[in-house]
Amino acid sequence: MNNFIYEIPTKVYFGEKQLQKNLSEEVKKCGSKVLLVYGGGSIKKNGLYQEIMEELEDPEIEVYEFSGIEPNPRHTAVNEAVAICKEKDIDVILAVGGGSVIDSCKATAAGKYYDGDIWDFAEKKAEIKKALPIIAILTLASTGSEMYTNSVISNLDLHEKKGIKSTLLRPKVSFLDPTLTYSVNQYQTACGSFDILSHIMETYFAREDGLHMLDTIMEGLMRTVIKYAPIAYHEPDNYEARANLMWASSWALNGFVRIDKQPNTWACHPIEHELSAFYDITHGLGLAILTPRYLRYALSEDTVDRYYQFGVNVWNIDANLPKMEVAEKSIECLEKLFYQDLKLTDHLTDLNINEEHFEEMADRVCVNGVVKSFIDLDKGDVVKILKECL
Ligand code: NZQ
Ligand code: ZN
Repeated sequence: MNNFIYEIPTKVYFGEKQLQKNLSEEVKKCGSKVLLVYGGGSIKKNGLYQEIMEELEDPEIEVYEFSGIEPNPRHTAVNEAVAICKEKDIDVILAVGGGSVIDSCKATAAGKYYDGDIWDFAEKKAEIKKALPIIAILTLASTGSEMYTNSVISNLDLHEKKGIKSTLLRPKVSFLDPTLTYSVNQYQTACGSFDILSHIMETYFAREDGLHMLDTIMEGLMRTVIKYAPIAYHEPDNYEARANLMWASSWALNGFVRIDKQPNTWACHPIEHELSAFYDITHGLGLAILTPRYLRYALSEDTVDRYYQFGVNVWNIDANLPKMEVAEKSIECLEKLFYQDLKLTDHLTDLNINEEHFEEMADRVCVNGVVKSFIDLDKGDVVKILKECL
């Protein structure tokens, strides 16, 4: 068990109608000028935009807007939002959406205090020294960005997607109202659920296994996703399902389940980020295609114990079966849930992706040498895993 510091200062308002009164109060604690940032318009269709504007109708609050944030958010959009923050001297950013909107707001928050392209943060040419406070209203259970320090931004000119990380970027306040996710369609529900699961699995499948307490929590979180993703998929307005997925998304990636596991590196996420960077695909879908292939690739007599635990404790597979059989069945269960029940595509070729850029992607994944994930992955391994996904 490693040493760690645990600090998650995001204040969470969880549940229905928590926006009422609380939103304007929280905004005013940060100042008077708020930049409301959102995506392609789902918040206008489901009435949330109107509700927010009514809540912010206050003589002490001045609202500015920036919309049109796309999935796999672009650095160019962030630069535009930064310009508004500077011009209007914004005090606080209100991020309303999924991970893409919240991540854009994080980069914008840092950009307010930087003279230059925000891509410099991604390339580590500049350091984040200060950032605007962020208040998030989450509309999609997926990334955990609502309680986390990271922002993932795409640069389409360079075909790159990179993380920007600072504790200064963690939202100050997050409103988690499960009813706001009722309008998320089946496809995004499935992709978001896989992303939540993947955040846990990337940590769970690690070489260090010194903390039983975290293992059992991770297993509980994974069982939660497995139980509720199909319910939310078929009954979009099932509060219990949406609530469980939403809270699981925050706990899957807010720093809590990771504390024991460093310095293990994640494997599927860096590979998926290359797929998104080149082909602009949905993050959760890329992970859903990659992860079973990665798990099969990493399975061996040396690693089988973890799969056995996963199979028995997460998928309820008969503990009396041989370990290797339990391991293989656990991967099949994962595939059945997401490919058959939740109807996600299981081949990259279905997304018109071929092997053209695999070598380049693998070079980037292995830019610091071998990836020390559950198993060591070198460039050749990454290419092989990607080819298995075709
Ligand atoms: O733009 P709008 O119109 O709002 O539509 C969005 C978007 O098209 C829609 N949506 C969101 N809430 C909705 C809704 N539609 C109907 N009703 C609602 N209530 O869903 C679509 C996808 O939204 P997006 O924000 O892109 O999805 P997600 O939350 O999965 O975020 C994905 C992004 O986050 C990054 C991913 O790489 C990707 O760029 N990640 C961020 C992480 C982090 N900050 O730590 C970690 C993750 O591993 C991930 O890399
Ligand atoms: Zn993810």
